[in-house]
Amino acid sequence: MIDTLINMKQQALKEIEKVKELSELDQLRIKYLGKKGDVSLMMAKLRDLSPEERPLFGQKVNEVKSELEERIYQKKQIFEQEELIKLLASEKIDVTLPGTSFYQGSIHPLNQVIEDVEDLFIGMGYEIAEGPELENDHYNFEMMNLAKDHPARAMQDSFYVDENNLLRTHTSPVQARTMLEKKGKPLKIICPGKVYRRDDDDPTHSHQFMQIEGLVIDKNITFASLKDALLKMVRHLFGVERTIRLRPSYFPFTEPSVEVDVSYIKKDGTIGWIEILGAGQVHPNVLSMGGYDPEQFQGFAFGIGVERIAILKYGIDDIRHFYMNDLRFLRQFKGVNK
Ligand code: FA5
Repeated sequence: MIDTLINMKQQALKEIEKVKELSELDQLRIKYLGKKGDVSLMMAKLRDLSPEERPLFGQKVNEVKSELEERIYQKKQIFEQEELIKLLASEKIDVTLPGTSFYQGSIHPLNQVIEDVEDLFIGMGYEIAEGPELENDHYNFEMMNLAKDHPARAMQDSFYVDENNLLRTHTSPVQARTMLEKKGKPLKIICPGKVYRRDDDDPTHSHQFMQIEGLVIDKNITFASLKDALLKMVRHLFGVERTIRLRPSYFPFTEPSVEVDVSYIKKDGTIGWIEILGAGQVHPNVLSMGGYDPEQFQGFAFGIGVERIAILKYGIDDIRHFYMNDLRFLRQFKGVNK
């Protein structure tokens, strides 16, 4: 009987060795170790043996059973390992293949100008300040030395939301807000942002445009400090060959005041001038209202038209191109400053 058992084991081991795939192995498992398999049949043969022979034979059958289980388990693991290797090979990604290209946008030319100006002024120790686009009359006009019935309010025709609130007509209210925040301490800020006016749209005017406000308050600030800052900016933006022209002007919040034009070459080859900003020394009333003693502190301020800078810098013939969202126009500015 033991010989039959040993033969069965040898036969089983041979068959297990030859198996080529997992399903075959499973069939073998059922054939030898299943409920009605050869090992179970051997176990059943115990009944035919004498009580003395039973323990030894029972033990041998159990040993064969364990050995076959172990062998089948090992073989199964080999198959599973091979399967995994095949799967990984079939899912291999070639990272050297060219990627699928996708459309990449670019920074709007107006934002490129703002970033350029910010970089320059941050390098000169200025901070960036911000204020709301929906402003109240108090900051937009009164704190800027334009009382309720001041005739100069007509210079900035406005979109009022109600009696006291309007879309800010310039970035100057940020001057007042920052002065109050700084509580009498020296300050140096620039403030980029959108502004709104009831201006008729034409090649150089838009009802919504952008400004960059600049404000410096300290002791010993003179008109020369303002001119120095403006020259540095114009040279940074346009190169040394451009010239600027300062025209005396009037703003209720600065005294003296100027308007600054930059030269450009017209299509017919003659020199033209385009106004890019208003500026001046901060009016003593504005300093006082902002919490600064005008006897001790002086300041200068300017308000740049961002579109006008971009028009000059990139040779654009109509301000309205900036707001049409025409990709043929916008694509020309991809990485223009890089
Ligand atoms: C002002 O807005 C003053 N707040 C500027 C200022 C600040 C003066 C600080 C003194 C001290 P003005 O209205 O001139 O000023 O506008 C400033 C600039 O904005 C102009 O030089 C011009 O470049 C631009 N600008 C004005 N109106 C328009 C418009 N409708 N469309 C496009 N740009 C405009």
